[in-house]
Amino acid sequence: MSVDWQEIEDWDRQYYLHNIFAKSEYPFTPVEKVDGNYIYLAGGTRLLDFQSQLISDSLGHRHPAPHRAIEEAMQRYGHVFFGMANEYRARAAKLLIEDVIGQAGDWASRVRFLASGTEAVENAITIARLYTGRPIVLTQAHSFHGLSNGPTMLRGYRGNISRGVDYADSYDVPGFSNSGIMPIPAPENASFSCTGQLPSLKATEDFIKSVGPKSIAAVMTEPMFGAAGLMPHPDYMRGLIEICRKYKILWIDDEVLCGFGRLGEWFGYQLDDNLYPDLMIVGKAINGCALPSGGVVLNTPIADFMESVRWWSGSTWDGHPLVCASIAGTLEYMLESNIVDLVKTKSLYLKNKLDLLKESHPCVGHIGGAGLYFAVDLVDANGEPIIKEDRDFTFNGDLSLSPNSIISAECAAHGVFLGGFVPNTVKCGPPFTITEQEIDQAMFAFDKALTKVEEKYHH
Ligand SMILES: Cc1ncc(COP(=O)(O)O)c(C=O)c1O
Repeated sequence: MSVDWQEIEDWDRQYYLHNIFAKSEYPFTPVEKVDGNYIYLAGGTRLLDFQSQLISDSLGHRHPAPHRAIEEAMQRYGHVFFGMANEYRARAAKLLIEDVIGQAGDWASRVRFLASGTEAVENAITIARLYTGRPIVLTQAHSFHGLSNGPTMLRGYRGNISRGVDYADSYDVPGFSNSGIMPIPAPENASFSCTGQLPSLKATEDFIKSVGPKSIAAVMTEPMFGAAGLMPHPDYMRGLIEICRKYKILWIDDEVLCGFGRLGEWFGYQLDDNLYPDLMIVGKAINGCALPSGGVVLNTPIADFMESVRWWSGSTWDGHPLVCASIAGTLEYMLESNIVDLVKTKSLYLKNKLDLLKESHPCVGHIGGAGLYFAVDLVDANGEPIIKEDRDFTFNGDLSLSPNSIISAECAAHGVFLGGFVPNTVKCGPPFTITEQEIDQAMFAFDKALTKVEEKYHH
């Protein structure tokens, strides 16, 4: 059946509530279909998806593992509410806790599956507060944990609006009280050199002491920042968790973006030896993004506590059979195909290519990352961020000046989907199904795009 794309554009422009772009800026980008590592636009353009959409579709598009599992489950299931068990919920929970996390340390004992990463973040915060009896949750500057009201308070990016004039003109969401969420500094990246405690950690510990540790339930972290594209300094996580342990503050590890192989380990917390979260949030790659999903994983003491009480909590979508089938199918596939080893191998190839680009492009500053997620910071001729707001940027000013707008336009002209949300940081996060030839194609396009950035900003 042929689609009338003009009619679709009219309806999309007239009836859909768009985000990120103002109406006058909105670029209608009609996708006809997706398959494997490619996005097919209406009109015939094919784009190599080098960002896995939102660093989310780790198995490429329409991977048979989740898709077959959903088809099979649909023969017997539609919806079953959380008060009744279904086969796939138990199967997915067992696979995640025993077979996947079990390989990465014996700390986790229960999971609850929810409809999104955001909802799992909300659940984790509630659980941490109930378990500790403490109100405050600490959140890192520039982090991202979702955009509903609870996670919205977990800054960096808050769902504010910009009139597109300048940075000072952005408008925060009215009505947010502090609601027990308090900021700590963002980590330094690996290029920061110092002896002794990192400044971010010193400031965090000072802040904890000033607030009073006995009122702090948890600190929430990202192993590598997703929206902001920031890999913390190698000393950061261990230092932060030592502080948490000292003050009996729980560690909520948000692995929505990094979990399931993205950083070359099953989970980002494994980048450090013998560091285990108290609560972990998962989503995105858990089912290749085949259906909306998320989950919160509990360590044994917290799980025992939550199971010992009646917890008045539930959502229509908890443990949905089709979602859980897609999770079970994906995890079985990832286990059978040794997905983590595959990521490690491809990571070396990609990192090597990025390092070569750095050698030939003065606009490439720090490259941070691991596995198949590398963030490339773009700098001016003095080595400073090109757009000064950098990771504080909230979609203000003329979008065509954003280095990432230049990158994504030039890459698209060479058949590659690549860019990022903050203006100076390009996020290379291809699907795990990427081939070396496709990495070469993406790097060819990136090379051309970096030249365009230099033409504009390096004279
Ligand atoms: C680290 C992190 N946490 C939470 C979320 C929110 O997850 P979802 O978009 O599934 O609601 C995201 C989404 O990008 C994320 O990257």
